[in-house]
Amino acid sequence: MEYLFHRGEKIPLIGFGTYRLGSLDKSEELGTLSYGIDKYGITLIDTAEMYGSGISETILNGIIRRYDRSRLFIVDKILPCNAEKGLYAECCKRSLERLGTDHIDLYLLHWKGNVDLQDMADHMEQLVRSGMIRHWGVSNFDTHEMEELFACDNGPKCFCDQILYNLADRGAEYDLIPWCNEHDVLTMAYSPLCNSYDPRVAVTSAEAVKRIAHKEQKTPESLMLSFVIRDRRTVTVFKTSSIPHLSNNMKNVFEPVGADDITELEKRYPPPTEKYPLNKI
Ligand SMILES: NC(=O)c1ccc[n+]([C@@H]2O[C@H](COP(=O)([O-])OP(=O)(O)OC[C@H]3O[C@@H](n4cnc5c(N)ncnc54)[C@H](OP(=O)(O)O)[C@@H]3O)[C@@H](O)[C@H]2O)c1
Repeated sequence: MEYLFHRGEKIPLIGFGTYRLGSLDKSEELGTLSYGIDKYGITLIDTAEMYGSGISETILNGIIRRYDRSRLFIVDKILPCNAEKGLYAECCKRSLERLGTDHIDLYLLHWKGNVDLQDMADHMEQLVRSGMIRHWGVSNFDTHEMEELFACDNGPKCFCDQILYNLADRGAEYDLIPWCNEHDVLTMAYSPLCNSYDPRVAVTSAEAVKRIAHKEQKTPESLMLSFVIRDRRTVTVFKTSSIPHLSNNMKNVFEPVGADDITELEKRYPPPTEKYPLNKI
């Protein structure tokens, strides 16, 4: 594993996502997560109270029990509908119970919704003081929403913005990722493989991606991950329940992609030339 350092924390560049965890055999899924921790050091794990209405968190309980808790960096999320009602402590407590741990390393507001950002910052800071969470952040926030948050008391304590970002969806490069870098906010890319829908298949089976992956001695999936983490300032979380897929995804993933191959990729997947709203799924 390679790491970056952010506000004194050592963060793995690559972590596990858990959206739709629980759709297969639970022991197989736990086996894949354990394999990823043991073989590749994938100790950052992203979940949410929303995923399977708590099922993903409950499955992670099996992982947290098996490992030294201090080795793991658990990211969890509160739904905006709960945040709007001020249910931060209640939701966090329920997540902790499902996870079977006494703290969450990074607690995110899942998306902005109609949440009052000053109220959120106040509640999140209260959770930090109580020891239930170590850091807090947001997800799916575009640049203007980050600016609104930073205008609040304690807003600049936001640790992270988790966003949709991958080779085929590079809109965040226009101003959001630069803004986060400038303001010391970690960007964490979700759906780096374009998730399980048709777009992922289209990208990983695109001739240019297959050709460049082969040249770089990567797989199409590991090339997509290498691309997302290429500046070593953005970390990412991908989901897989399968050990063969995991091995595929990690193949030479930390080998930098050659500049000529980045140029080739950019012909097919150009960087944004203008601002458009942050995509979300
Ligand atoms: N904050 C947010 O709003 C938000 C939104 C979406 C996602 N997320 C987080 O980000 C994580 C990752 O995003 P994601 O799950 O949407 O998409 P993703 O990681 O880009 O793609 C996951 C999908 O790709 C498949 N896959 C993985 N490796 C593969 C391989 N080598 N070959 C073929 N298929 C492969 C997985 O199926 P298998 O399990 O069969 O391998 C799964 O269906 C989520 O799990 C979640 O934790 C956050």
